[in-house]
Amino acid sequence: MKLRRWLAAGAVAVATAATLNVAPATAGRPYDPAAQSLRDLAKNHGLYLGTAVDMDVLHDATDPRYRELTGSEFSTVTAENAMKWESLEPTRGHYNWGPADELVAFARKHDQRVRGHVLVWQNQLPGWLTSGVADGSISKAELRGILRDHITKVVTHFKGSIWQWDVVNEAVSDPWDTPSTLHYKGFWAEHLGPDYIADAFRWARAADPKALLFYNDYNIEAFGSGNAADDKTQFVYEMARDLLAKRVPIDGIGSQGHLGTQYGNYDTLQVVDALKKFAGLGLATAFTEVDVRSQLTAGVQAGDEAEINPRLQASALNFSILLRACLAERHCLSFTLWGFTDRHSWVPGWFSDPPEGLATVYDENYQPKRAYQEMKADLIFAGPPYVLPRAVQSPRK
Ligand code: XIL
Repeated sequence: MKLRRWLAAGAVAVATAATLNVAPATAGRPYDPAAQSLRDLAKNHGLYLGTAVDMDVLHDATDPRYRELTGSEFSTVTAENAMKWESLEPTRGHYNWGPADELVAFARKHDQRVRGHVLVWQNQLPGWLTSGVADGSISKAELRGILRDHITKVVTHFKGSIWQWDVVNEAVSDPWDTPSTLHYKGFWAEHLGPDYIADAFRWARAADPKALLFYNDYNIEAFGSGNAADDKTQFVYEMARDLLAKRVPIDGIGSQGHLGTQYGNYDTLQVVDALKKFAGLGLATAFTEVDVRSQLTAGVQAGDEAEINPRLQASALNFSILLRACLAERHCLSFTLWGFTDRHSWVPGWFSDPPEGLATVYDENYQPKRAYQEMKADLIFAGPPYVLPRAVQSPRK
């Protein structure tokens, strides 16, 4: 009885949202959901659909389509680089807020929510910080204070503008690292020990009681062996469980979703299972950096369709698997692409041996690819009883 009432309530909520969002059918022409943007279709589920934004391209007057689509297709934005430490404080004590502030203003103008990325990460740190620690001029005690001050300053600066903060990013090793047993890796764990993670969440919460605080990582889309020694998802699950047991204010897990067609694919139900387990801890989830790259073999580069088509198909399926899983779990609050066009994607620059690319949902000329159409179809053809409106997630104190 109770279950039926809950399902009925979900169905009503969906119907109402859909009704509000439907453009009036023009005489003789049926309403066409495929003509709607990703953000409008996602809104029917209460889901925020996002992209990472490259601020240089957003300002490039010779490339206006980038700005148009950033505003029209997406309801949440993430700074691809502008909120990283090396961008915000290139010289010690001198903060450069400009580009990040511009993104926040752009988001406000386009009625978008902002994911803050990123407070604590071992990459893209300013040179003064890493060299100061390396040459001993910054001591361990001072380093902890520097981290606390950075978090406090940045979170305070953007207070009221950030929906979700990636507080800690990529803190866990991979099975191919040495030692292969999973462990806390990188600059912060090496110099401060793993307790910096709990500290970072507490400092972020002290500076902004309203933002949702996330741990963000890659290769945590699905569980593997279930043993934290070699299963990164399990390691992160246990980390989150232990942080919660210590009353650390963590609100969500961000699953980056950087996939590659050469690795095959998860199945959707495996991904749903992972999202459900995190939700079972009382956490929100989000896909935060989704892209699906492919190897640019000689055949792909020569335009051989027998080489290109299977890759584009596999890419579309991978986007769809993550999106359907997110739709199916009510605590999955947002689905963010790490760039939306092959014209501006980090993949070719980062994965060059062998060369990789074709990782986004629009091609280099801003033509939507199969992946884009499949995402739309997923958003259109989803509803109760298995796809329900998003759950409300309140920040933990
Ligand atoms: C990448 C950016 O896309 C690049 O422009 C930059 O040169 C390097 O970082 N995981 C993350 C993101 O959390 O911040 C990274 O972004 C991609 C991998």
